[in-house]
Amino acid sequence: MTAAESAQARPRRGSQRLVVVSNRLPFAFRRDADGRWQAEPGGGGLVTALLPVLRHRGGMWIGWTGAADDSPELNEELAAVGGNAGYTLKSVPLNADEIRNFYEGFSNEIIWPLFHDMQLLCNFDPAYWRTYCEVNRKYAKAVHESCEPGDFVWVHDYHLMNMAAELHRLGSKSRIGFFLHIPFPPPDIFLKLPWRLTLIEALLQFNLIGFQTARDRRNFLECARALVKGVDVEGRGQVVQATVGARSVRIGHFPISIDFNAFMRQATAPEVAARAQELHRLLPRRKLILGIDRLDYTKGIPLRLQAFQNLLTRYPALRERVSLIQVVVPSREDIAQYRDLKTDIEQRVGKINGGFVDPGGWVPVWYVYRSLSRLDLLAYYRAADIALITPLKDGMNLVAKEYCACSIEEDCALILSEFAGAAAQLGRGAVLVNPCDIEGVADAIHRAYHMDAGERRARMRSMRRSIRENDVFWWVDSYLRAAITKDLSDFPQMKDAGAEGDVEYSVSF
Ligand code: G6P
Repeated sequence: MTAAESAQARPRRGSQRLVVVSNRLPFAFRRDADGRWQAEPGGGGLVTALLPVLRHRGGMWIGWTGAADDSPELNEELAAVGGNAGYTLKSVPLNADEIRNFYEGFSNEIIWPLFHDMQLLCNFDPAYWRTYCEVNRKYAKAVHESCEPGDFVWVHDYHLMNMAAELHRLGSKSRIGFFLHIPFPPPDIFLKLPWRLTLIEALLQFNLIGFQTARDRRNFLECARALVKGVDVEGRGQVVQATVGARSVRIGHFPISIDFNAFMRQATAPEVAARAQELHRLLPRRKLILGIDRLDYTKGIPLRLQAFQNLLTRYPALRERVSLIQVVVPSREDIAQYRDLKTDIEQRVGKINGGFVDPGGWVPVWYVYRSLSRLDLLAYYRAADIALITPLKDGMNLVAKEYCACSIEEDCALILSEFAGAAAQLGRGAVLVNPCDIEGVADAIHRAYHMDAGERRARMRSMRRSIRENDVFWWVDSYLRAAITKDLSDFPQMKDAGAEGDVEYSVSF
């Protein structure tokens, strides 16, 4: 039985429908050259994981189409796509001002940088907050109109943190859960937010709040205690219960994951092997180091390039023996900081290649700026000997997990930032680095290059076991179980102790 089938085979828990709410729908809608709407499925673990549950329980996904449009043709396409997908899709249209102030503004120029500890990048424009509140109200209305008594509403991510408060204002009696896909910052950073009290009180109105790691949960509880009087917490373990006056909220950490078996299966396809071989033919006689990131300043790409340059300078024996493949997937192109970052990355790549390239054909950095097809993504994973994943801060980082799932022969190495959520789970198998330590990252690449096969295998095996046991179906199941179980003392704890605890930071002298 596949993991997806086993998720479907799990017993129905009552007759509750699942109503998923996220900023974006799981399909992006764009007009083709003839002006007709086309839906492109948004890839990613969330869609894969929720699909069987939505089909099984019956359900709905509510969100934005990604377009500033609400035409009848778009809604027809939406209904058709939803019919084929096996669940109802409902759109929340956003106009150009809302896209600017709610999506680009409050979500991505305030919460995104602040929650990733980059407060200096925040643009605390009060107009952004007003639109954020209005748009959350708009989403809440759409949910309230569509909900039936007994539905479980599962809200995703930082765009929609006011949803429970808005739904209660509308008189909703549904149970409402929230999962934050990005990190939650410690109090000295969160308290900079001018609307901190309203936001924390709004979050405390959910019935269950899920975070990626124990650290995020601890940060949230510290912020709640700093701002709100009388927050009591009961229990230990993965899910705890907080009470604030008459209200109680469950708070847990559930590290999101991938469909491990699907990645492993697809990675063995002959077309993937052929494309991976083609990469080795183009970049022959060297180890390939891979970075794949959405274009984002949280991913630490400029520092990573500096570390690679440092490696080539301090370890000249590795010149012509390694190439860095850096894939950057376009993202949030309408925000100035993202455009500036692209220019910065391209200048750095040019400088490294200009400084080290040799007439024999060795290219130090192979730079790719585009979205990847699934086939290309798998081929890069299969071709790479070392994955170099060094975000300055990241909620989880699924690239790290996907890379391990595709390392079928268990002979690859993963270099991972201590500040990625995945480090709590994979810290014992990965070579952990501080992404700001340029020489430390260069040394880690040198170490991974020379790591013997036995050590590579032992490390990769332990990471793969952990990801297989705690895959994305486990993630959905454990979240929903935490939401509905009557007695939290019956709640099964995570099998992998590494996923429970904190990162062991590397100390060098
Ligand atoms: C992060 C967020 C998601 C978001 C994604 C892509 O992973 O946690 O909520 O959808 O980035 O960003 P975008 O702004 O294109 O939706």
